Amino acid sequence: MRFKIFMTITFIGHGYVGLVTAAVFADLGNTVWVIGHTSEKIENLKKGILPIYEPGLEEVVKRNVAANRLLFTVVYDKAIPASDVVFIAVGTPPKNTGEADLSVVFEVAEKIAQHLSHYIVVATKSTVPVGTNKKIKKIIEKAKHQNITFDIASCPEFLREGQAISDTLHPDRVVIGTENQKAQKALIELHKPIITEDEKTDSHLVLSTIETAEMIKYASNAFLATKISFANAIAQLSEKTHADGVKVLEAVGLDRRVGPAFLQPGAGYGGSCFPKDVKALIAIANEWKYDFALLQDVEAINRAATDAVIAKAQKLLNNSVDKKTIGILGLSFKPNTDDMRDAPSITVIKALQEKGANIKVYDPIAMNNAKRIFKNVIFTKDPYEAVQDVELLIIMTEWNEFRQLNLTKIKQCMKSPRIVDGRNIYEPKKMEALGFTYLGVGR
Ligand code: UDX
Repeated sequence: MRFKIFMTITFIGHGYVGLVTAAVFADLGNTVWVIGHTSEKIENLKKGILPIYEPGLEEVVKRNVAANRLLFTVVYDKAIPASDVVFIAVGTPPKNTGEADLSVVFEVAEKIAQHLSHYIVVATKSTVPVGTNKKIKKIIEKAKHQNITFDIASCPEFLREGQAISDTLHPDRVVIGTENQKAQKALIELHKPIITEDEKTDSHLVLSTIETAEMIKYASNAFLATKISFANAIAQLSEKTHADGVKVLEAVGLDRRVGPAFLQPGAGYGGSCFPKDVKALIAIANEWKYDFALLQDVEAINRAATDAVIAKAQKLLNNSVDKKTIGILGLSFKPNTDDMRDAPSITVIKALQEKGANIKVYDPIAMNNAKRIFKNVIFTKDPYEAVQDVELLIIMTEWNEFRQLNLTKIKQCMKSPRIVDGRNIYEPKKMEALGFTYLGVGR
């Protein structure tokens, strides 16, 4: 079968991965269907109202909806018969055991099978444990009409929230895991504009078996989480030994074999991927009787990094936060997103509330999502209101707008000038010179 340069493809799921990748592929000239299961969300998407905040995404979605290249639907009957490739991009949230919950993945596999009318490639973008794609294959084989053929593929994504469009357009690597050349060829064709945009071309294209592709995704996220936990461990030790942990890690990162990225100590990693994928890889290892003790420590160090913020807050308030008012700047798990999933701010705020503290918060984008999570918290309209009459300020997310605050005004607003900087956005010496009692991470 020959594939057209521009294809018709379908994404099932319109979360960060599904919606961003669908919009980018539509922008590259393909006709892209996006299937969701909530009519209200789908109707909103048709009008350019997005369920998530991602810089630049609304514009790309609106442009491609207007050009009739990006089509939203809740039903499978037009999209699947029209498609060359169907991507599964639904959520795989963790179960209580840490394993990924694959029920939605399997449900949509069955629906794809019911609507198969010709050969397609069913590629999984959702992060799924090794072996899942083979299970998807079995489900489709069982539910499809017997004369129709299909292939499965694993195409993991590596996009970061906040930079999702540029990460999709300029990926460090495109991973395509397939069982045969026919499916591989179709997916290379689809990804060609992304791969060949870079001069080094093929070196960034990783062609593999399905199991290898599935493992690449978990290994990548687990390694990055390990790097962050290593940085947090060095930071903790540096605090004890009076070394400047930030300088130590900067120097470590200057070694080209290590690299400076993902070595910033802080309040711990959060988000929709690292916490979930580290847990899932531990669960996969357990299933295969491999004791992945390293990753258990990565998790423990991450919890300790968040707990350290709580301990520092208590320390600066003479070991009692009861009835004290604390201002929090930043709620999302990182800047440039409204995503609150596994945000360290949740752990910190709930722990301080349990110990009797009153909490005032401000976040540039995540306030609406945060309102669904926190009770008895005062939501404020700007950073200055958030610190009015507080006895302590905690920085939980390094939004750029917090870097350039009028710190003299901040000090005047506060009842007492104490700061726990969970993201090291300020210079300790400068803060002390301004009259703050200041605790960062690792220094
Ligand atoms: C991550 C991966 O980077 C991406 O490749 C994958 O596809 C999805 O998971 P994302 O969750 O969007 O992306 O955020 P990322 O920028 O990786 O940050 C994750 C967390 O690590 C954040 O809470 C961030 O604050 C924290 N972090 C990151 C650190 O604490 N220190 C660092 O040096 C880097």
